[in-house]
Amino acid sequence: MQIKDFFSKEGKQVTAKGWVSNKRTGKGLVFIVLRDGSGFAQCVVNEGEVDSQVFSDANSLTMESSIEVSGKVVADERQVGGFELQVSDLKVISIAEEYPISKKAHGVDFLTDKRHLWLRSKRQWAIMRIRNQIIYAIHNFFQKEEFVQMDAPIFTGNVCEGTSDLFETEYFDQTAYLTQSGQLYGEAMAMAMGKIYTFGPTFRAEKSRTRRHLTEFWMIEPEMAFYDNDMNMDLIESMMKSILRDVLDNCKAEFEIIERDTTKLENAMKKFPRLTYDEAVAVLRGEADVNGENAIETLENDQKNAEARIDEIKKEIGEREEKIATPGIKKGERNFNQNKIDQLKNEIKDLEEDLRNIPQWIKSAKEFKHGNDFGGSDETVLTRLYDSPIMVYNWPHAIKAFYMKRDADNPELAKGVDVLAPEGYGEIVGGGERETDQALLTEKIKEHKLPMKEFEWYLDLRRYGSVPHAGFGLGLERLVCWICKLPHVRESIPFPRWYGRLFP
Ligand code: 4AD
Ligand code: MG
Repeated sequence: MQIKDFFSKEGKQVTAKGWVSNKRTGKGLVFIVLRDGSGFAQCVVNEGEVDSQVFSDANSLTMESSIEVSGKVVADERQVGGFELQVSDLKVISIAEEYPISKKAHGVDFLTDKRHLWLRSKRQWAIMRIRNQIIYAIHNFFQKEEFVQMDAPIFTGNVCEGTSDLFETEYFDQTAYLTQSGQLYGEAMAMAMGKIYTFGPTFRAEKSRTRRHLTEFWMIEPEMAFYDNDMNMDLIESMMKSILRDVLDNCKAEFEIIERDTTKLENAMKKFPRLTYDEAVAVLRGEADVNGENAIETLENDQKNAEARIDEIKKEIGEREEKIATPGIKKGERNFNQNKIDQLKNEIKDLEEDLRNIPQWIKSAKEFKHGNDFGGSDETVLTRLYDSPIMVYNWPHAIKAFYMKRDADNPELAKGVDVLAPEGYGEIVGGGERETDQALLTEKIKEHKLPMKEFEWYLDLRRYGSVPHAGFGLGLERLVCWICKLPHVRESIPFPRWYGRLFP
């Protein structure tokens, strides 16, 4: 019986198998928090109600030991799932050695080294379940819209997103790259099927250790024949809303565990603002306001507020420290105050990080040069002003990929779109309409110094029944990060790979 199904067995006898995620003892009582992958449940072992052997086994359990327990399901609204188990029998499957991850706060490097075990923690469990629901929602959306899921190869001879971050590998007597994007193949498949999507791993040898960059990540890439970029943007918007609706409806318990304020996600489901690149640049530089808010002034205010808040916190810490030092203070009260102090110190750390960042953000926003691509901090500054994702379109063609369609009315522009997630998260989707003009495409392939011979097959798509078409790539981990409000992309994927990280 899985823990998630306990609700249907109230008052009945059940048996469940799992791991001890926590244990406390009281007088004649052992409280075990059992986890089985489907959920968490408190199991109460009462000395007066079980064999003495069962009670001593329960007492000897260590963190992460594996067990089988039987007992009666009773309602207890204080428990996560709403139920607990009154144990009548318990069998030990394996007693765990001393578990390296304890209740105390560990550094994130330590936890990443122990990722194979960290995945068992409640917070990681909840994030991975939300990731799973997002994946399901994506397939659901595209299948309902009658897209055909098809796969692009991982070994490829073609460069899709620029030559600077390629993983090269030997492919017998040739050089192959690990794919940066399945798009070029997606275009071929769309010409066969009309509407397709790929869902696979992609690789970028980016030597950057930012909170958004992985070297291996999963991308969803739909490609649609007879779509222009406006239709593309409509599709992105309805896909995003469909994913959000699905996770909000199906992951309530998980969002509670990770303490995600889901009203932010509910609010994100309004019409996504669409800005041209020019408009976005004006907002970023503080030359245009958004709903009465100015990017630069907002940052300056945030800076002042952070400084004021730090002073306030320091005062409160001082008061609480005085309380703790009072002779004869009760243990409970001392612990309560100590916990508060620890929390406040963490808040200071976050604010101090803001104070380190904000001046750089302001500088980069004020000095942003029209014609450049947005950097991570520019995206942060922009998206802090919105509560839903925004779509930036009509980009300077010079900073976009070779395949992007030039605007017939203004050849300086490419019909691309980037979707930037709110709350400072930044780019989660990149896409656009594809160039169909053979001459312009050939010119671009040359300009990007790509080997023409290897792009002949791609040019065939323009030679034989060329049609307008568009598509986009959604970065799964970036989406998980925003939906779960994670501080770093490393928590969004089971075994993250980024510059320098290969284990576990
Ligand atoms: O903007 P990108 O580079 O676009 C493409 O690859 C297009 N060929 C997609 C298409 O039109 N079919 O990447 C798309 C998305 C980004 O918006 C981001 O969400 C994610 O992929 N992404 C990364 N995620 C994690 N780590 C990285 N290093 C990423 N690079 C891109
Ligand atoms: Mg991009």
